[in-house]
Amino acid sequence: MKSHVWRPLFVVIGIVLLILIARQFLVPKDFGIHERGYMYGWYKKSNEEYWKTKIAVKYKSAEYCKDCHSDKYAMIMQTPHAIIQCENCHGPAMEHPSDPPKLAIDKSRAQCLRCHYPLPYPTSGRANIRGIDPEKHNPDVECSMCHNPHKPKIGGTK
Ligand code: HEC
Ligand code: HEC
Ligand code: HEC
Ligand code: HEC
Repeated sequence: MKSHVWRPLFVVIGIVLLILIARQFLVPKDFGIHERGYMYGWYKKSNEEYWKTKIAVKYKSAEYCKDCHSDKYAMIMQTPHAIIQCENCHGPAMEHPSDPPKLAIDKSRAQCLRCHYPLPYPTSGRANIRGIDPEKHNPDVECSMCHNPHKPKIGGTK
């Protein structure tokens, strides 16, 4: 090949190398993906505390509810629903109980069917949740008329 082909190629390779070297010095060590994988994309770990002061945390997780709603907490922890966050059904706690003073209660069948509508895709963990056919399984009656969402098995000991 002629040198007029090689020369631009070397220039390009040189530029790429310069970028890689500069990156080593310029990109902070804690920039990357962290515990939650790609959920939050690439970010600087040390910025987390800063952002917590700028944006209020909306979801508090079940530990937050434990002391005030100890009956619900204790009950659900004995059941397969223990792995679901309370806020998955009740919405983000934010500053509850001051703001909002109450969290939403959604008794619709759709609330439960989000997870219990049977899905066939075997590669997704979602397929492992037991599904019911909403057309046949006691249609038109709210699920919570029969199943306590915090203790869903009817007549079960747990
Ligand atoms: C510091 C205590 C406290 C914490 C923490 C707390 N709650 Fe509450 N919650 C209350 C109070 C007080 C009420 C109002 C009770 C009432 O009016 O019956 C309430 C009401 C609710 C209601 C509505 C009850 C109804 O009958 O309408 C839901 C649902 C609820 N909380 C869920 C949660 C969940 C889920 C969490 C955790 C993410 C949580 N709460 C954390 C104290 C708390
Ligand atoms: C699978 C969805 C789901 C999950 C998970 C869930 N709840 Fe509920 N919760 C409901 C529904 C639906 C009702 C209304 C039940 C009814 O009235 O028949 C309810 C009612 C309540 C109430 C008010 C009614 C009462 O009996 O006092 C509180 C408080 C509450 N839930 C707290 C919690 C807490 C705390 C957690 C987690 C430890 C939790 N819930 C997890 C769906 C859920
Ligand atoms: C966020 C997903 C999710 C939601 C929403 C949800 N469930 Fe479940 N449910 C599960 C998982 C996961 C299990 C455990 C796997 C299984 O038993 O198939 C389960 C198990 C159950 C079981 C079997 C309990 C046992 O001890 O064998 C019943 C019944 C049930 N759910 C009813 C409901 C009802 C009623 C609602 C609505 C109030 C609801 N679920 C909402 C995920 C969910
Ligand atoms: C009229 C009462 C009634 C209503 C309404 C009802 N169920 Fe059931 N469901 C039952 C009974 C009874 C069983 C069998 C006993 C058990 O497993 O708890 C059952 C079983 C289940 C199971 C376990 C299935 C299995 O293969 O073991 C799931 C999941 C379930 N129901 C979800 C729901 C959902 C979601 C709704 C609302 C869309 C709903 N149910 C509405 C009475 C009801």
